[in-house]
Amino acid sequence: MAEKAKLLVDKELQIAPVDKRVYGSFIEHLGRAVYTGIYQPGHPAADEDGFRKDVIELVKELGVTNIRYPGGNYVSNFFWEDSVGPVEQRKKRLDMAWRTLETNEVGLHEFAKWAKKVNSDILMAVNLGTRGTADALNLLEYCNLDTNSYYADMRRRNGQDKPFGIKTWCLGNEMDGPWQLGQKTATEYGRLAAETAKAMKMMDDTIELVSCGSAHVAMPTFPEWEATTLEHTYDYVDYVSLHQYYGNQDADCADFLAKTQDLEHFFHTVISTCDYIKAKKRSKKTLNLSFDEWNVWFHSLDSDNTEMKERPWQIAPALLEDHYDFEDAILVGLMLITILKHADRVKMACLAQLVNVIAPIITEKDGPAWRQTIFYPFLHASKYGRGVALMPIATSGKHDTSKHEDVTDVESIAVYNEEKEEVTVFAVNRNVDEDVRFEVDLRSFEGYQVKEFTVLEHEDIYATNSALGEKVAPKAKTDYVFDDGKFEATLKKISWNVIRFGK
Ligand code: AHR
Repeated sequence: MAEKAKLLVDKELQIAPVDKRVYGSFIEHLGRAVYTGIYQPGHPAADEDGFRKDVIELVKELGVTNIRYPGGNYVSNFFWEDSVGPVEQRKKRLDMAWRTLETNEVGLHEFAKWAKKVNSDILMAVNLGTRGTADALNLLEYCNLDTNSYYADMRRRNGQDKPFGIKTWCLGNEMDGPWQLGQKTATEYGRLAAETAKAMKMMDDTIELVSCGSAHVAMPTFPEWEATTLEHTYDYVDYVSLHQYYGNQDADCADFLAKTQDLEHFFHTVISTCDYIKAKKRSKKTLNLSFDEWNVWFHSLDSDNTEMKERPWQIAPALLEDHYDFEDAILVGLMLITILKHADRVKMACLAQLVNVIAPIITEKDGPAWRQTIFYPFLHASKYGRGVALMPIATSGKHDTSKHEDVTDVESIAVYNEEKEEVTVFAVNRNVDEDVRFEVDLRSFEGYQVKEFTVLEHEDIYATNSALGEKVAPKAKTDYVFDDGKFEATLKKISWNVIRFGK
């Protein structure tokens, strides 16, 4: 057994309140996310609006707080007017991002209705690829204004009397990416985003805006992109975006699970860059992070490229349908812990995506909806990770992997929910060879007892779930000791652990 790991939990040592918006997700008009995903009239589970009730229930179970829409790459040539008005008159459009045919059967009004059904807010993105400031203003007026003006009146004519009241808006998507329609240099994007942000806040000063960060950490222009674009946008925006997907292309589990070291580094670099611009501008405002695309993504990459190349312009083909295995769930758990460790600066995060497309929920077109392995760590964090993130005063053994050094065996964090008088510890043992004894010292939480010890563990790192059943599902454990405010148990090698304490 590896060296014992310890976590000291003290209610006075706080990082910050966990912003509930870190439990966000993402629906893009891509693959089967919308059509045969959230929406499938005629399916036995469809409701009166054509939305699948089985999916609605699973999304509600996950407790998703806000959903980014409608893209992603899709937004960079999105003509929002095509997605409103009488459905039978809506234009069918070629989606250049994913080389599919978009029917616009589900548009802004339908999505807003669905978001209400799942109790989520919308994080709306504007097209700064092939469009610009005027179009962003038109969409904002359509969504948020109660004026007697052209676009607000159009919304009313389309059946929505009161504004949708969308609070948070992304200024484009991954605008540095060569794959993006309307890709821009940092200066081009910075100027356009700043002018758009300024105009949007002149129209509605209650909104919050997200400036586009680099498409991912390995972009050659990272972090120069952040520094240059924020020089322009800093005064007008509230967040900068980060996107990051990880994969295990080398089938090297130990190294795969070490990748949150890179995520830590990514967060620190973006935070430092924001703070550098803050200092340069002598600004009083601190910019926060919107980690609005994150997940594991690699299983489907090759087949997707073939599909898009060889069979373009289909309606809702199966794209980006990664079937996640057990080790993917563990990395998702580690990414959630990393997000919580940065609760002081990461204020929004979107698990990308939500249904069918690199998603925790999969639908069978002629069958049920089911939970992928990654569903569970997100569910636990979203359900129990509400409150204040406590500083992890942690010790753990360490190991090296093929590309990472000094990787902690156990990563852990506690969240204190004062209102519910609960403390929840999330812990991952990412040592692939050895179990680890784990001690939680709850010294400042007098009278607290163990409520539940739940784990996700499996002998086979490649185990997956399917419509036929869940090989990977949480189970309750009782083999722990709790004495004098100290909890102790063995964390199985490669496991996600949730320990709940309460009065
Ligand atoms: O989530 C899938 C895609 O990944 C998004 O459309 C894009 O923003 C990112 O590259």
